[in-house]
Amino acid sequence: LRTPVAIVGAGPAGLLLAHLLDEHGIDSIVVDLRTRGEIESTIRAGILEQGTVELLDRLGEHSRARTVGHRHDGIELRFEGEGHRIDFPALTGRSAWLYPQHEVLKDLIAARVAAGQDLRFGVTVTGIDESSPERPRVLATDADGEELAIEADFVVGADGSRSVVRPSVVGSSQGGYFREYPFAWFGILCEAPPSSDELIYSNSPDGFALISQRSETVQRMYFQCDPELDPASLSEAEVWENMQKRVPGTTLIEGPIFQRDVLRFRSFVAHGMRKNQIAIIGDAAHTVPPTGAKGMNLAVADVALLHVALRALLQENDARLIDAFEERAMQRIWKAQHFSWWMTTMLHVTDDASDFDRRRQLGELRSVVESTAGQTYLAEAYTGWPLA
Ligand code: DHB
Repeated sequence: LRTPVAIVGAGPAGLLLAHLLDEHGIDSIVVDLRTRGEIESTIRAGILEQGTVELLDRLGEHSRARTVGHRHDGIELRFEGEGHRIDFPALTGRSAWLYPQHEVLKDLIAARVAAGQDLRFGVTVTGIDESSPERPRVLATDADGEELAIEADFVVGADGSRSVVRPSVVGSSQGGYFREYPFAWFGILCEAPPSSDELIYSNSPDGFALISQRSETVQRMYFQCDPELDPASLSEAEVWENMQKRVPGTTLIEGPIFQRDVLRFRSFVAHGMRKNQIAIIGDAAHTVPPTGAKGMNLAVADVALLHVALRALLQENDARLIDAFEERAMQRIWKAQHFSWWMTTMLHVTDDASDFDRRRQLGELRSVVESTAGQTYLAEAYTGWPLA
């Protein structure tokens, strides 16, 4: 098989890249280990930056972000039992959208299928053959166990945090900057109406909670927990008790819990994003802790840069943008790393925090909500810095 661009990973980054390349007449082949059903049903984050929604508009009727999703014009920061609204449009002229990632994936896959593009599920990539650096090859086994070799002008690894393409770019599977956090999130999906019109990010002496939403009838909520906690170990009553305790001053509307999971926190940035004719994007290149919902949006921002750079390279033989790609992408990635780290450390409580640390943290939260400059920084980062 030959193709201009071989894309490993049918997540938001890989699929959106394939779509934007196709829009400009560049073919690609997208492969993914998982089945279409698995990809379309995995529960991930739910917040899109305004720029992400605008890029998804290019899917035309296939994007349901504006029709099924909901615009959110603010969030509530809650501490010491009081809520403080951050008004996004008033501060930045922009908004965020609540539209779950698996719905974005359904839209992207539908658009790919409607365009008749080559998209293959159940494909296990076994390695990248770099023996001719100008024509790398993706080596794989397909869903029927047949061996597959895809020769490309350019290979893109959009294959998530356990990327098999990453070693070809950075020399090892681990090559990058890491940070671990001593806590995790206990996440639930429950059948209940929303407890609040907008998302609540709550700091309390018992730890953090995030009250998010999925629809009029399904809610997504998280509370800070120990990373070793077994999600099955709490009764529903204990889950609600933990959740409620972390949002003092608010009364949550409870309902049957039909899904629960524990999400680990880490920050990671690969040492590089491109070598010769191979690049990595999205979670393959970086991971952020979930607070602030930057993960998928950052993947989309990588694609915004890369698709333009690949067009110049493949259609005009102009390598300037691809040569500048890593440096430009990294500037935004480190800003998003900072924002995610900042939201995380400002809102969570650690066992080893002293009384000083605790009071300083409340001082930090107060500095943000009582300052237009502080609120504006949060709103700019949350709704998304301008895309390339
Ligand atoms: C959701 C997750 C986040 O990390 C966040 O900051 C906001 C919302 C969510 O899953 O709904």
